Amino acid sequence: PYQPASFEFSNANKKVVEELIARYPQGRQQSAVMPLLDLAQRQVAVEGAKASPPVGGWIPRAAMDHIAQTLDMPPIKVYEVATFYSMYNTAPVGKYLIQICGTTPCWLCGCNNVIKACKDKIGIGMNETSKDGLFTLMEVECLGACVNAPMVQINDDYFEDLTAEDAKR
Ligand code: FES
Repeated sequence: PYQPASFEFSNANKKVVEELIARYPQGRQQSAVMPLLDLAQRQVAVEGAKASPPVGGWIPRAAMDHIAQTLDMPPIKVYEVATFYSMYNTAPVGKYLIQICGTTPCWLCGCNNVIKACKDKIGIGMNETSKDGLFTLMEVECLGACVNAPMVQINDDYFEDLTAEDAKR
């Protein structure tokens, strides 16, 4: 029921779409699928931030279909990419998506304390969104910042060397 019936890139983003596609050689325009998915997710986030309750970035199925049509590729190929990578959200998330790394280095350095602190502070469980639409908690695999474990990613920003108190703050 949360899926919109249609999706279109904004006028500003239509220009970005052209630029992104132009980066690839003739006949290889399908290579633009990942940046176009990212662009769609960011556009939804900008619009969602104005909604009440707010919604974070995610990629509606209509956006995937629109991208498939734009790049002249079967929709299933776009769905495959969108569902494979954890940076693409295929369902609505909160305005602030808190992705907590639970892989071994972060786990050894105490990510469970960070997870508990986030759950307690926001009052939600993993893969849940707060009622005010502000926060979604998600556990993810290594985000490449193991040297400063434990860490979380909130939207585009990394927060590293965390204690439970840091996480709450
Ligand atoms: Fe957490 Fe690599 S294990 S960032």
